[in-house]
Amino acid sequence: MGLKILATGRALPSRLVTNDDLAQVMETSDEWIASRTGIRQRYFCGEGEGNTALAVSACRRAIARAGIDPAEIGLCLAATFTPDHASPSLACEVHGALGLPESTPAFDINAACTGFLAALETARCLLAGGNLRGKYALVFGSEVISRVLDPADRSTAVLFGDGTGAAVVTLSKQHPFVSLLGARGDAEILRAGGSSQADRYVRMEGKAVFRFATQIVPACIDQLLERAGCGLDEVDWVVCHQANGRIIDHVVRKLGAPEEKFYKNIHRYANTSAASIPIALDEMCENGLIRTGQRVLCVGFGAGLTWGGALLTF
Ligand code: ACO
Repeated sequence: MGLKILATGRALPSRLVTNDDLAQVMETSDEWIASRTGIRQRYFCGEGEGNTALAVSACRRAIARAGIDPAEIGLCLAATFTPDHASPSLACEVHGALGLPESTPAFDINAACTGFLAALETARCLLAGGNLRGKYALVFGSEVISRVLDPADRSTAVLFGDGTGAAVVTLSKQHPFVSLLGARGDAEILRAGGSSQADRYVRMEGKAVFRFATQIVPACIDQLLERAGCGLDEVDWVVCHQANGRIIDHVVRKLGAPEEKFYKNIHRYANTSAASIPIALDEMCENGLIRTGQRVLCVGFGAGLTWGGALLTF
């Protein structure tokens, strides 16, 4: 059974932080950040802003655009590694704020930057399982990474941003959905959010992550296309997790693919982890780039290590 995205929504916090703003508080420059990553700016939560408020705003937008009654939402799934609280989950906080039915389960999935794709596949399986009350699932990737950035570590502090991307989905025979998920336990090259103060911040071996990403993304695309029985020429868009523009450029070269098929918006938002793919999908739908009937291949990779892909039909 396939999966249809009925509508999407996104939300960004109010504080726009440019590379030049960062250069005023740490030893860095717009030239260094932009040339190595493609990032020009990001949004950070300010006082009084948090993950729940961002997620509620993006979800409300997606629900309104889908034109559905929230009482028909049978599942509420958040993908995040930066919830406001370890418990209750972000999904439960959003469930409460939206007044979703008591029969609607809500929980978080943490697969780092692959989280939204893991949540989509989980939603599809649970919807297909037939034990949910409502026929729609609310699935969102939402992060406030600014809370786990070490301002003294310029090699990570410049790379991330906060934001939410949300989608309302339902099962559909006319919308084939092919998914692939994997993991490789390696806590050393990328981690964040440890329980001790010393282990709280994002720590990353940038070059090792770069090597991992440029190996796994093309492999994931190839496997997904093989599973779907189609070629890249039959796919309209590729939406990679937006971690670094240079990673996407490497993937394009490795696959010998047309560059214009690979969507990039990292210059606007930096790396928003689980939110990056749904934010991109929302922007593309809003700007009329994704049209009905088009095939969109999404690929994620992140801490864990995790990776995954989904071939969606709009
Ligand atoms: N501004 C200025 N100089 C900096 C900065 C900065 N923000 N950060 C590091 N430098 C300096 C370093 O100190 C080093 O200086 P030195 O040569 O005097 O020692 C120099 O720049 C080169 O540092 P490297 O770490 O070797 O820089 P590199 O070219 O590898 O680029 C980067 C770093 C951009 C992080 C790269 O490794 C990368 O893109 N890695 C991929 C990881 C990624 O994108 N992660 C995102 C999150 S993970 C995820 O989402 C899955």
